[in-house]
Amino acid sequence: MKLVYTGKTKNVYELEDGNYLLAFKDDVTGENGVFDPGANTVGLTIEGAGRAGLRLTKLFFEVLKEKDIPTHYVDANIEEATMTVKPATVFGKGLEVICRYRAVGSFLRRYGLYVEEGAELDAFVEVTIKDDGRQDPPISEDALAMLGLLTKEEYQVLKNLTQEIGGVVKEELAKKGIDLYDIKFEFGRVEGGQIVLIDEISGGNMRAYKDGQYIEPLELEKLMLL
Ligand SMILES: Nc1ncnc2c1ncn2[C@@H]1O[C@H](COP(=O)(O)OP(=O)(O)OP(=O)(O)O)[C@@H](O)[C@H]1O
Ligand SMILES: [Mg+2]
Repeated sequence: MKLVYTGKTKNVYELEDGNYLLAFKDDVTGENGVFDPGANTVGLTIEGAGRAGLRLTKLFFEVLKEKDIPTHYVDANIEEATMTVKPATVFGKGLEVICRYRAVGSFLRRYGLYVEEGAELDAFVEVTIKDDGRQDPPISEDALAMLGLLTKEEYQVLKNLTQEIGGVVKEELAKKGIDLYDIKFEFGRVEGGQIVLIDEISGGNMRAYKDGQYIEPLELEKLMLL
């Protein structure tokens, strides 16, 4: 097994058969020892956090598979905290695609002059560039095309997949009385050229609320897997 990438919350290995193995770590992002899913630095280590994130990821990727939505998922081993996936190439050095159902977080910080906190949004899609040094800046469809990161056609594919997958996650959460406020995804291209969902879908990738109260990632994982 060859280590190909050491991430903040996962390590990526290449398997003999060419697939990748994502090893989920107990390191979580945050600042000054305080858990913050949106942060770009590893803040602390929580025993069992990796396995919890993988359990939720496995649940969502298996629902997506049933619905024939294309992802990199092959299988998952909870005991070992690993997930086998198809290797993908990302756009540029990686993009994040966000789907928003409520005005919170960075959307509210940017547009607070025109929108009230918690206002409903209709699966609003935004793209950000993975660039820790520049705090993952948002980027427009035109800028993505101009910089050669995504063609207009690819943007449409990503946007449609994002709204479709966001809808699936929202529906799964709703079954447990949980509201999805926003969620972020990563996409890549697999062998043959198809654009698929990659990476993970865990508590750290979304904001979820129950009865108006924010639910921490580890708590979300418990509620969803009950
Ligand atoms: N199928 C795949 N093929 C290739 N790379 C993948 C695949 N799935 C996930 N990745 C990449 O593996 C890495 C996983 O590491 P990790 O989640 O720790 O991310 P990171 O980029 O360090 O930090 P952050 O999650 O804050 O962006 C990410 O860079 C992700 O884009
Ligand atoms: Mg990541």
